[in-house]
Amino acid sequence: MSLAVRFHDQHVAESRTAFRDAVIAGLRARPRALSPKFFYDRRGSLLFERICRQPEYYLTRTEERILVGAADEIAALAGPESLLVELGSGASRKVRLLLEALRPRRYLGIDISREFLLESTRRLAADYPWLEVHAAWADFSRRLALPEGIAGRRAVAFFPGSSIGNFEPAEAEAFLARLRRMLSPGSGVLIGVDLVKARRVLEAAYNDAAGVTAAFNRNLLVRMRRELGAEVEATAFDHLAFYNAAASRIEMHLVSRHRQAICLAGERFPLAAGERLHTENSCKYSVAGFQALARRAGYAPAAVWTDPQGLFSMHYLATP
Ligand code: AVJ
Repeated sequence: MSLAVRFHDQHVAESRTAFRDAVIAGLRARPRALSPKFFYDRRGSLLFERICRQPEYYLTRTEERILVGAADEIAALAGPESLLVELGSGASRKVRLLLEALRPRRYLGIDISREFLLESTRRLAADYPWLEVHAAWADFSRRLALPEGIAGRRAVAFFPGSSIGNFEPAEAEAFLARLRRMLSPGSGVLIGVDLVKARRVLEAAYNDAAGVTAAFNRNLLVRMRRELGAEVEATAFDHLAFYNAAASRIEMHLVSRHRQAICLAGERFPLAAGERLHTENSCKYSVAGFQALARRAGYAPAAVWTDPQGLFSMHYLATP
């Protein structure tokens, strides 16, 4: 098996234009909002990796423990010789916990961060010489398709980290339905979902003492400045993250420290002191609530694993 990664360019041709248009639309909107998918340039992807190692951020280590314990059961559900597709593969760390148990024939990593995707899939190809490694540079929130040549095979789609939480429930349902239509019958979705829990535990996870989440949040402004030439000072905004219990979600915002204006592409966006830019939702579910959503999206929930403390859940959803 060759060590080369097969690269599939599925990205919207002009990613910078797409970023600029989305930022302008978001700054014009009320309340002002930016999509969390723009956090993940190279710096943002690295900051996210650091978030995952913070003591308050229980999600990553809990999910990894669940995966290690469930790997053999997952392999039995997935069946042999499958295609393993990872959505938002990032550093492709978690998938390593599955590869030995699953022994898929092919791996496809899909990520919005091009450099990061290439680095991590190359490492994967080097470490698992028996695996055929593919990488697709894509914004899967917009376009969801298997590259030619590997479509039409029984697959396991791995969507870890509770990234599904970035969608509001109705969007999550629509996204999962779209994912199901991409997969052939007999496929499965292995998805990590963060659970509803005490406010204090949730809020600590998004307000780490080292300030990494704050830097991650502000990176959106750093990126606007560097890539779009926006006139904006990242230090003129505070990081705000809190649990909105009525909506079962963590919300992240950037709060303007004083009256100021962001200038971008000839447009001036005045901000009052205390005015917020809504940068992320991270929705939390109960096990039963998520299974009901998966059923509405056309899946049969086949298995679910949680940690002993009930912090996090991993679901295996079968496609009929
Ligand atoms: C990658 C979307 C799952 O919501 O916990 C971490 C992103 N934001 N800290 C999450 C994130 C702030 C993360 N997801």
